Amino acid sequence: VGIVNRRITLAARPVGEPTEADFALVEAPVPELGDGEVLVRTRWLSLDPYQRGRMSSARSYAAPVELGEVITGEAVGEIVESRTRRHSPGELVVGPFGWQEWATARAGSLRAVSGAAPPSTSLHVLGMTGLTAYFGLFDVARPRPGDTVVVSAAAGAVGQVVGQLARMTGCHTVGLASAGKLEDLTETYGYDTAIDYRREDLAAALKAACPHGADVYFDNVGGAVSDAVSRRLAVGARVAVCGLVSQYNLAEPELAPRNLGFLIVSRVRMEGFLVTDYRHRFPEGLGRLQRWVEEGRLTYREDVVEGLEQAPRAFIGLLRGENRGKLLVKVADA
Ligand SMILES: NC(=O)c1ccc[n+]([C@@H]2O[C@H](COP(=O)([O-])OP(=O)(O)OC[C@H]3O[C@@H](n4cnc5c(N)ncnc54)[C@H](OP(=O)(O)O)[C@@H]3O)[C@@H](O)[C@H]2O)c1
Repeated sequence: VGIVNRRITLAARPVGEPTEADFALVEAPVPELGDGEVLVRTRWLSLDPYQRGRMSSARSYAAPVELGEVITGEAVGEIVESRTRRHSPGELVVGPFGWQEWATARAGSLRAVSGAAPPSTSLHVLGMTGLTAYFGLFDVARPRPGDTVVVSAAAGAVGQVVGQLARMTGCHTVGLASAGKLEDLTETYGYDTAIDYRREDLAAALKAACPHGADVYFDNVGGAVSDAVSRRLAVGARVAVCGLVSQYNLAEPELAPRNLGFLIVSRVRMEGFLVTDYRHRFPEGLGRLQRWVEEGRLTYREDVVEGLEQAPRAFIGLLRGENRGKLLVKVADA
């Protein structure tokens, strides 16, 4: 009663790169709780490139955010009130709470936060981005020991996990990132080779890093980077198309990869995937990821900004590569 719910809504559909004027910080009453629902206080908010797609009205796999609506997003929250027997106040849960301080959600949309690790990891290495790396690599790309695995946006949330899982499989790992993150690639995530994808001689660098070609390409970015990698694929290579972050702010996507001949020459299998299609296997993925974190075999980096009001600026920076690790907003303290 009397508590204000601060929320960030879509003020305008971004054209090209989003600006802060595309978002509005508004105050609303704390939402009313319905039967079968919980009231949650948001603690951690996950910022993700896919949210750019939700801000656009173009056809996608999920409905867009309407103007004036709260921006959608996964978050960790604490249950404050419950009208379902499945959950009690005090529990920490992951759910689709959106960019706001208070939210209601149905019990069926919630996942328990792993008690063994800090709650924020349930949005990253023990959550959506870790699962994306796990299923995208093992189920879609299917690496074998000795394979050369190339990863784009390799220092990002998904990419940092992919590189480590590929290395654990016995692969030779090559990570692409912007210049300031190369040390993280080799020192923190164990990539064998780190390449600044903005350098002029990217093709030569890829050739040197993959003398026998790339057997796996885990693609997070698309565009010119993927065009260059596609020319280095080995016969029988697998390309897991995870994301196309280089394209999300473009009104017209680039015409890349320019030459699909590589599919024929190297008999490549290129396959897109959505992590949510693996929902029935999340317990398997989370169980393994958690064990590897506990054993110290899988590390992770979070990039935390404080305060809900910082979310738009941080999100704009995410699409520019300003994040160093998984981008999270700390909305409230415990
Ligand atoms: N299919 C699925 O189910 C699924 C699930 C989760 C995420 N994804 C996708 O996975 C990708 C990575 O997501 P994330 O959450 O891990 O984000 P992230 O990698 O932590 O952040 C995005 C990164 O993309 C890089 N980037 C931005 N513009 C670029 C460009 N023009 N060319 C090359 N790289 C660029 C930047 O790193 P640099 O500093 O290195 O440029 C930036 O840090 C995204 O494409 C996302 O949509 C897909």
